Amino acid sequence: MSSPSPESIAGYLSAMRPFWHPVLRSVDLTDRPIHVVLLTESIVLSRLDGEVSALTNVCRHLGAALTLGDIVDGRVLRCRYHGWQYDRTGRCVDIPLRGEEKIPAQARVRRYHAQERYGLIWLCLADEPQGDLPPYPEFEDPEFHRNELVQHAEWRASVPRLVMAALDDTHFSWVHPDVLGLAGQPRLPQRLGDRPVVVSEAGVLTSRYRTSMPESPMVAESRADRGPLRTVDVEFTNVATVNSMKNVIYSDAGVSVTWNVYQPVSHDRTISFTQLSRTYDQDPAHDGLWEEFNLGIKEQDRAIVESQQPWLLPPLKAQMILYLRPEDIPLVEFQKLMERLDVPQI
Ligand code: FES
Ligand SMILES: [Fe+2]
Repeated sequence: MSSPSPESIAGYLSAMRPFWHPVLRSVDLTDRPIHVVLLTESIVLSRLDGEVSALTNVCRHLGAALTLGDIVDGRVLRCRYHGWQYDRTGRCVDIPLRGEEKIPAQARVRRYHAQERYGLIWLCLADEPQGDLPPYPEFEDPEFHRNELVQHAEWRASVPRLVMAALDDTHFSWVHPDVLGLAGQPRLPQRLGDRPVVVSEAGVLTSRYRTSMPESPMVAESRADRGPLRTVDVEFTNVATVNSMKNVIYSDAGVSVTWNVYQPVSHDRTISFTQLSRTYDQDPAHDGLWEEFNLGIKEQDRAIVESQQPWLLPPLKAQMILYLRPEDIPLVEFQKLMERLDVPQI
């Protein structure tokens, strides 16, 4: 596959910098420094003084990777090469060979904005963060039973491609036959409301529709009279932002939520974090089944998404994607949102 031009890639990476991006599950940051890559920047994460510190992974002395170092007394990050110690703001606070001599003011490494929320560590690489974290009210809602947050293997695709894969609502019977759609019976979902796709000032896109889908194996299992595959009527509310996609499904059984957030490792590499939650079938012993079901769907999508050309979306006006209306309206609206946020396309 031909790569976008270096200018396109640089434009995309720089446009994504002001947003908050997920990079690690909170539980995975303990007493060791951890290496993450965000928008091609190599970053070392540590817990220092009880807070997340995100520093550029290059020691200011001779440039060794700080991820090779150690956390000392839960307070500073020490470089493995000559023992320089950095506090959580990236300031060097000790150079062992210097003893009491003054530490040069330039002895500091770049620090990035970091915060913890929804069980994840989020970073922003720009000086001024833009926008909020994706909305996730179900995280605090006691009605929902939540599975553990899962980090998935990296996909060879850009973040917008992953968001759009989860936003697309006309591929179910093709890619997920008898899982999300009915095999051999493609159907147009019935869009809901006067404006079925709404995009807020804050950059949150909401798409609502009604459709029929196969009953999930988790629900089918709980029924005594198990028979051939049943069809159920459901309503979807999909909520997308620049780097997240939440599918909320309302059925007679209750509400289930698939919350996906995406880490843009580079223009063509993405790591997803997913949390499943639901208001029914709340037995934690069933969590594995739900996880397996979701992973199966993701793997079906993966083959398609990694095949899509080009890596970065072509601009709408180039008409390189032949969108159909009304079928593809949610995708068109998402692309418009990306263009409004100045995330450049190839
Ligand atoms: S390279 Fe880090 S202390 Fe020398
Ligand atoms: Fe899909």
